[in-house]
Amino acid sequence: MQKLPRLAGLDHSAALLRQGYGFIPDACDRLGSDGFRARIMLRDVVCLRGPEAVALVYSDTVTRQGSVPGTVLRLLQDKHSVQQQDGAAHRHRKALFLRMLMQDGAVTALRDQFRTRLAAARAEWRTEAEVVLIEAINPVLTDAVCAWVGLPDLPRPNGLADTLYRMSDRAGGFGPATWAALWRRSGVERWLRGLIADARAGTVAVRKDTPLCQLIAHRDPDGNPLDDATLAVELLNILRPVVAIGRYIAFAAMHLGRAPGWRDRLHGGDPALAESFAEEVRRLSPFFPAVGAITLRPVEWQGHPLAARQWVLCDLYGMLHDARFFPQPEAFDPTRAQTWRSESDSFVPQGGGKVASSHRCPGEWITVTLIAEAVAQLAADPTWRLPDQDLSVALNRLPARPASGVRLRFSG
Ligand code: HEM
Repeated sequence: MQKLPRLAGLDHSAALLRQGYGFIPDACDRLGSDGFRARIMLRDVVCLRGPEAVALVYSDTVTRQGSVPGTVLRLLQDKHSVQQQDGAAHRHRKALFLRMLMQDGAVTALRDQFRTRLAAARAEWRTEAEVVLIEAINPVLTDAVCAWVGLPDLPRPNGLADTLYRMSDRAGGFGPATWAALWRRSGVERWLRGLIADARAGTVAVRKDTPLCQLIAHRDPDGNPLDDATLAVELLNILRPVVAIGRYIAFAAMHLGRAPGWRDRLHGGDPALAESFAEEVRRLSPFFPAVGAITLRPVEWQGHPLAARQWVLCDLYGMLHDARFFPQPEAFDPTRAQTWRSESDSFVPQGGGKVASSHRCPGEWITVTLIAEAVAQLAADPTWRLPDQDLSVALNRLPARPASGVRLRFSG
């Protein structure tokens, strides 16, 4: 067995920033190996790709604790969240997320909230003549998720939609814009902690059977309720990613505008077709480049021994663009039979593994449903088109986006 190749050079942080999504897949191609050793931020890391690597980082032999820089963790999942738990404690908390997010009635209820608000927003957009979709969609998603999650109808922090958007938009950056996003996030956390404390004290009413009600009723394995700060973090782990779906919706509109044939086919309102379109948008649009993990004990990957406490980065983006798994990977083709339901270790836009027992995203069903709803509404609306604009997608900006933000021009 040959040793894992090592990338030449002392530290590869600059290459990672320069290459972004391409860092792991390009180095693998150059080295002729699905894994290599490197140094990032002066720390030894093993970079891997392929379904076996996904299976490893979505197994019980690794932890997420200490696997990403602090700013990324604080802007996304945060300390004490479900994603930072391991083993039985993780499965117990995850079961709560499955109850909140992966039940027929829950997904339909959120879709309905989004459906009416998006229809109303489109009527308004028509009077504005042109909108930048990646921004215009955020208040629509924010209103839908706040109502659905069960937040009492009380004043919200100014610019909540934008703050939620920036949590994921700035997660891959450094410097003032990222610090500002962190600062605004702490304001939203404070607001949520206050609401939760009031709800517990009975001074504000919480609708039954909503995710907020389920969060408050949740008990840890010892029978204790979660503290207000942890509940606020987990509530944000629903609000933030639902708003992040707007990025996929912007990519979806871009594909729809570029492929009039698909617009016509979807005009008929076939929900299965809209879902397949949404799945292909998730495959092709860069979002999470990779996932980090730390081994809890010595493990093997394809016969290569990895020591305990080894930092591992597993590529997600590259696999979604790998011809071994997706023939003609750069072609936008919604007829590929790929779905979140298969819990595949190669179709991994939102992570791999089994959703109930690993860190696989519990929001895939919601994500596909909301993209499909947006696709169905946009396909049925003949009043918009894509004006000339820069739709290029820079792969060294994490998370990526079409440069223009996807401008839609409405007529009448
Ligand atoms: C915008 C589209 C989304 C993307 C690209 C995305 C991506 C991901 C990824 C890659 C993971 C795995 C992280 C890891 O392995 O450590 C994950 C986990 C998670 N996602 Fe999503 N997600 C999205 C939407 C959602 C939605 C809509 C929700 C909730 C409504 C959600 C809630 C979560 C939670 C709670 C986890 C942690 C699961 C665990 O650790 O067991 N995500 N997501």
